[in-house]
Amino acid sequence: MTGAAPDNSPESPGSVRPAPVDPPGDGRPAAVEFRGVTKIYNEGTSREAVAIRDVSFTIPDLPDKGEISTFLGPSGCGKSTVLRMVAGLEPQFPPTRGSVHVLGREVVGPGSDRGMVFQDYTSFDNRTVLGNVTFGLECRGVPKRRREAEGREWIARVGLDPRRDAAKYPHELSGGMRQRVAIARTLVLRPRIILMDEPFGALDPATRLDMQDLLVRLWREVEATVMFITHSVEEAVYLGDRVFVMATTPGRIAAEIRMPAADAPAREAQVEPWFHEQVNQLQAQLEAIEAAASRPGN
Ligand SMILES: Nc1ncnc2c1ncn2[C@@H]1O[C@H](COP(=O)(O)OP(=O)(O)O)[C@@H](O)[C@H]1O
Ligand SMILES: [Mg+2]
Repeated sequence: MTGAAPDNSPESPGSVRPAPVDPPGDGRPAAVEFRGVTKIYNEGTSREAVAIRDVSFTIPDLPDKGEISTFLGPSGCGKSTVLRMVAGLEPQFPPTRGSVHVLGREVVGPGSDRGMVFQDYTSFDNRTVLGNVTFGLECRGVPKRRREAEGREWIARVGLDPRRDAAKYPHELSGGMRQRVAIARTLVLRPRIILMDEPFGALDPATRLDMQDLLVRLWREVEATVMFITHSVEEAVYLGDRVFVMATTPGRIAAEIRMPAADAPAREAQVEPWFHEQVNQLQAQLEAIEAAASRPGN
């Protein structure tokens, strides 16, 4: 554990910028940086809800590598709020207080440097696999032949068969295949930051392991920064170079933990003793955080 973010600092719009937890060594701007970010939904109404309070963290931009950060925490602790703020999506964006920076610039809205993959299968039902994968390129005005060539290439890279699967419609695909399409649709646009909100949460365990392997393989190819939300401690440990443990009421970062890099396929790594040890430690930490949060007076 490299440090826990304090959650008792006073909220003020002009509060001093907290020190980054893990400052990038070579002067490159961080991939993602939150500075004292608070989000209150429906502020000033009877439905006012503090989703996250005074959240600060830094994810360095590792040259020619990138990093996978996983976010773990109970329902309602603000994981999706954090991720969608990075994406610049309303109503999570803009923050009520504080600021969000991506690659050295303050986020002012969505942008092509960031791509998002959700848990629900968000493909367009009336478009084929190829039509879905090339949608973003179409929006960018890429000519048809080029975008179809790139689309087919990405269909293959996510482990689908361009000849057999390109003309299929989403309803003809399994959950795992749909998430492959969602990943291809995002990566074809070459975002530097890939935002994934429980993307494998609805998949069966075996498919989930396949998708974890796929993600690690593609991540090595595209050298991007990945922010990955999960409910699974195993998934957080396996995928994460860095695990952010979040706690609730108010939503905050309770701990940031560095993890050894995954250097073996999911099925092999996840039976190794070090892996079990990390999972047990993290599970215990999560339980301690949740117990503290539910103690009277909190
Ligand atoms: N659009 C919204 N309007 C009001 N409250 C919201 C909205 N989105 C999220 N919340 C509240 O903010 C908190 C954090 O939500 P969310 O970021 O979705 O958490 P998580 O993804 O960790 O489950 C929850 O209490 C949720 O009810
Ligand atoms: Mg969520």
